[in-house]
Amino acid sequence: MERTLVLIKPDAMVKGLAGEVISELDRTNLKMVGIKLVNVKKEFAENHYEEHREKPFFDKLVKHLTGEFHKNVNVIAIVYEGEDAISRIREKSGKTFPDDADFCSLRGKYGRHNTKTDCVENVIHASDSPESAKREISMWFSEEELIK
Ligand code: PPS
Repeated sequence: MERTLVLIKPDAMVKGLAGEVISELDRTNLKMVGIKLVNVKKEFAENHYEEHREKPFFDKLVKHLTGEFHKNVNVIAIVYEGEDAISRIREKSGKTFPDDADFCSLRGKYGRHNTKTDCVENVIHASDSPESAKREISMWFSEEELIK
């Protein structure tokens, strides 16, 4: 049994795609064990993306998650649980850059590179390893907020 964190990012929220994204993720047949709406602050986003702090795109990534490019909308955080949850959600997400992503994946369908803001509007974040999932879930949710 694995758990993974999904964030429906501001680009998807501002386009009213949250329902579509959740419907598609439901089709993985994973169990949703936690969900909430979060207004993401800068320091929290910096901690979430801690491992990318030295990367040239770090500031853009943080601004994206805090909603700076998208009317400061909130983010939906979800925890899914099930066998191979991490890889199954990553597969459904598609590759990082929407142009490279499979047409049927969430990023291939709904993402884009916004050339005006240079923001990679890639719809969702999904944990990429058991270690990241554990760290991220404990940042975004308390134990009491997750269904046993
Ligand atoms: S990396 O560089 O291999 O760690 O990249 P990856 O695992 O694919 O992505 C980690 C997060 O960084 C975002 N990313 C970028 N954002 C903006 N510009 C560029 N060039 C870029 N490269 C990677 C990527 O979207 C991942 O964030 P999330 O929120 O998981 O999508």
